[in-house]
Amino acid sequence: MKKLIAGNWKMNGTQASAMDLISAIGIGLDENPSLTDTCDFLVCPPALHLTIVKDAIEGTNAPVSIGGQDCSANDNGAHTGDVSSDMLADIGCEYVILGHSERRADHEETSAYISEKAGRALISGLKVIICVGEQEEEREEGREFDVVAKQLRESLPNSASAANTVIAYEPVWAIGTGKAATTDDVAAMHSFIRKTLQEKLADAGDIRILYGGSVKPDNAGDLFKVENVDGALIGGASLKADQYLGIAKAV
Ligand code: PGA
Repeated sequence: MKKLIAGNWKMNGTQASAMDLISAIGIGLDENPSLTDTCDFLVCPPALHLTIVKDAIEGTNAPVSIGGQDCSANDNGAHTGDVSSDMLADIGCEYVILGHSERRADHEETSAYISEKAGRALISGLKVIICVGEQEEEREEGREFDVVAKQLRESLPNSASAANTVIAYEPVWAIGTGKAATTDDVAAMHSFIRKTLQEKLADAGDIRILYGGSVKPDNAGDLFKVENVDGALIGGASLKADQYLGIAKAV
C-alpha cells in the first residue's frame, strides 16, 4: 500500500502563500517523480483557498489530491457559516478530514456528530479521514486504548469501508508540540486500531491508518517503518514544501 502523505494546512496563510506552497510542492514532485511510486499526496488547505489550490494543481498536473478540513453534517440549507460535503465534492475535493482534535476541542464535536458528518460526506462521494487520539492525562492514567476504541466505535458511520475511509491516530499531546509519540507507542496503538476496526469492517486489514503529531522529515523514516503506519497527517511541517516532501522522501 502506498503511504498517504496528507498535509493539514489548518487556518494558515493567504491566497498568495497558498499558491506559493502548492507551486513549490508541484515543482518538487516534478523534480522527484519517483516519490509517487511510494506515496499518494494530499493537501487540505483552508476552505477559502481550496479552489485556487485546486486550479493550480490542475494547471500543472501535479499528482496531488485536495481535501477539506471539515464539513457540515447537513446536506444544504440554513446553516450559516457551514460548508457542505457536496460543496467540497463539487469543487474537486477527494477527501475531508473529520473529528480532528482541534474541532473536537474548539467546537465540542462528539464522536456521534463526527459519524453523522462522515456519513454525509460518504454520500457526497468523498473519502473521510477520521481522527482519533487520546489526551495526555488519559495516557498518563493508562486509558489511551479505551479512549481510542470508543472514538473509533462511535465516529465511524455504518457505510465506512477501507475504500472510503482513512483513520488518523493523533495523540493530542503530540500535535504541534514537537513531541511525537515513540515508535513503540505508535506500533501498539496502530495494531490495536486495526484490531478494533475488525469488529466493524470486513476489510479492516486494508484500511489506511495514518499517524499524526509532530511528524517531521527527521522522524518520518522511523515512523514509516512501523507496521500498520500507512502514512502521515502533517500539520506544521506541511506548510513548508521542502519539509512536506522531505517526509515523503523518508518513505
Ligand atoms: P502537527 O499537527 O504536525 O503540527 O503536530 C498534526 C495535525 O494536527 O494533524
